Amino acid sequence: MRYIPIVAVFVLIAGCASDPVQPLEEQFPSVPAHLPAMVYPANNVITREKVDLGRHLFYDKRLSNEGTIACASCHVAAQSFSDAPNQVSQGVQGARGLRNAPMIVNVGYRKMMFWDGRASTLEEQAMGAFLNSAEMQADTFAVAVLLRSDVYRAKWLAAFGDTSVSMPRVMQAVATFERTIVSANSRYDRFLQGHLNALSALERKGMQLFFSSKALCSSCHSGPDLTDDLFHNVGLFHHYFDRGRYNVTKDPLDEGKFKTPTLRNVALSPPYMATGDSEKGLLTTLEQVVDHYNDGGTPFPNKDPRVKKLGLTDPEKASLVAFMKALTDSSVLTNPAWQQP
Ligand code: HEC
Ligand code: HEC
Repeated sequence: MRYIPIVAVFVLIAGCASDPVQPLEEQFPSVPAHLPAMVYPANNVITREKVDLGRHLFYDKRLSNEGTIACASCHVAAQSFSDAPNQVSQGVQGARGLRNAPMIVNVGYRKMMFWDGRASTLEEQAMGAFLNSAEMQADTFAVAVLLRSDVYRAKWLAAFGDTSVSMPRVMQAVATFERTIVSANSRYDRFLQGHLNALSALERKGMQLFFSSKALCSSCHSGPDLTDDLFHNVGLFHHYFDRGRYNVTKDPLDEGKFKTPTLRNVALSPPYMATGDSEKGLLTTLEQVVDHYNDGGTPFPNKDPRVKKLGLTDPEKASLVAFMKALTDSSVLTNPAWQQP
């Protein structure tokens, strides 16, 4: 009985929302208390129906030019929504992009999208992937026809309250689905939740080093997702063929800078870095990445001063790798809510 007034208040608030579909009464899906609450844009509230539509769209190959590629072709649930171990992904007609497909776990928390930050919202990002000639090369007319088909009509109605099909709505649904992909179940998470034995002695040593002024990792890989959401040059090349953030800002100070990636599930997503490689070749193991940082990287005018010779011992390097492996949350790979419908 005590709850009735609260429900009544909710109905009132929901009634005022600009979105025709009522938002859920509670955070959905629930995000554990040690992570920030997921923020859904005011013009794209989350509903179960929109998530369901978004999941169908995410897995639907018919949305690409040849009917061969879906978002999920390059963001594979079993690979933590990356396409490891590929260095670059293959899109329609065998076209290859230039960059390594990032995992999209916890991507709802990111402030900028893509390695160079050229999109600022997930909605905008999805539109980019959809129309990109090397990714899906969608024909918007064909897509609209498909989305008006019987299979989709009911989902469309449930998610948006009417059956008018538009690309922004497609992107809203896909983005809403993506915001539900939250990883918070690694042993590191359990440690943060107070289970101190969730990490081994070696992993705890690696964690201390990771957050220390000796290794400096956490000066960029900070916060719950181990990223500052900023762009840095970590000294991978003498010459950057992919100029990274510079392509967006045209500021010479941004030459060769890329977005700090989340390290959640990093062990599952080789090869590493925006292009999967460095001056010295492919970076396929976390050991190689730690060696890269420990050696101070390749000299480059924009290289961040924190990337410098660290003087780590072999046991210290091993502990850093062990800590990064403890960031693995394998529940992401099999969570039924995110599998192909
Ligand atoms: C052909 C492979 C391919 C397909 C298909 C594809 N992506 Fe991607 N995705 C990538 C690559 C590669 C990047 C990194 C590109 C860059 O940074 O320039 C990326 C980046 C992203 C990002 C940014 C993540 C971050 O941390 O910055 C998101 C989100 C994303 N894709 C979602 C999607 C969605 C949604 C679809 C379907 C509409 C899709 N992708 C289709 C390969 C693909
Ligand atoms: C100056 C900021 C900075 C510091 C310090 C730093 N990183 Fe990074 N890290 C980045 C950026 C930026 C990238 C992506 C670089 C690129 O692709 O060009 C990255 C990439 C990575 C990757 C690859 C992840 C992936 O998905 O490809 C790993 C692993 C990593 N860092 C671990 C570490 C460790 C361990 C340390 C400490 C020894 C460290 N980082 C120190 C900014 C930093």
